[in-house]
Amino acid sequence: MAPIQPKTPAEIECMREAGELLARVFDEMGGEVCEGVTTDHLDRVAAGVIRRLGAKPSFLNYHKYPKTICTSVNEEVVHGIPGSRVLEAGDIVSVDMGLIYRGFHADRATTFPVGRISPEIMQLLQVTRECLARAIRAAQPGSRLFDIGAAVEELATAHGYGIVRDYSGHGIGRKLHEYPQVPNFVPPKGSKAREEGNPRLIPGVTLAIEPMINLGTHRTRTLSDKWTVVTADGLPSAHFEHTVLITEDGPEILTGEQPALKELELDTPA
Ligand code: MF3
Ligand code: CO
Repeated sequence: MAPIQPKTPAEIECMREAGELLARVFDEMGGEVCEGVTTDHLDRVAAGVIRRLGAKPSFLNYHKYPKTICTSVNEEVVHGIPGSRVLEAGDIVSVDMGLIYRGFHADRATTFPVGRISPEIMQLLQVTRECLARAIRAAQPGSRLFDIGAAVEELATAHGYGIVRDYSGHGIGRKLHEYPQVPNFVPPKGSKAREEGNPRLIPGVTLAIEPMINLGTHRTRTLSDKWTVVTADGLPSAHFEHTVLITEDGPEILTGEQPALKELELDTPA
């Protein structure tokens, strides 16, 4: 089993700066999420802010990906491509974005409610946000990789939600995706991930932790655009992600704070 390579103090400073910049981009772009805007508008805003801050988008041209951000609406899980789609009240939109600054990547995702959303979908967002919080809390120095997925699995399963298995979190640094994969569940005995081992988390390790949680089945499929991943049953999906540094004192979130989910956004039950 390969140990996870920790970053040097100088590398960690770069990662912190990249993370702070990405948090600022999310703050500005997130303020634009509302009924009536297109997903392309969000992409343009994000691209503008990233450029103004002197950073570069991580996703643009990554395996020929055509945009700066991913915008995945409702039953779309990840890798939705921004375009002319207009967001409507009751939608949710998962925005996933990475940037590179002074040679280091930061990666984050947030699912935003658009206008009032149903209580059922609000709960999905709240629980997925909490799955990320608990997964981060599990990422202590001396803990092991699969403790992260165990934390996600415990909460999501208690709510009867489907945990996406086809996509995982990942190590992050000079490359967007580094060793190890960070599954959002404990890989079962006999699986490839389980055989590859459960390395220890030590100070200096940087991980992108990113639960993707579905209201229904965990199963996904990819649309004919070859990018957009949707739930197999068409039910909504939520995605929250942070780039996290393991320190001697515990996990440090490098990519800001997830916005609070306001009671206000709840649709009044019939
Ligand atoms: N958002 C993915 C991640 O968090 C990476 C997206 S790659 C892209 O790891 F090509 F779709 F942009
Ligand atoms: Co990621």
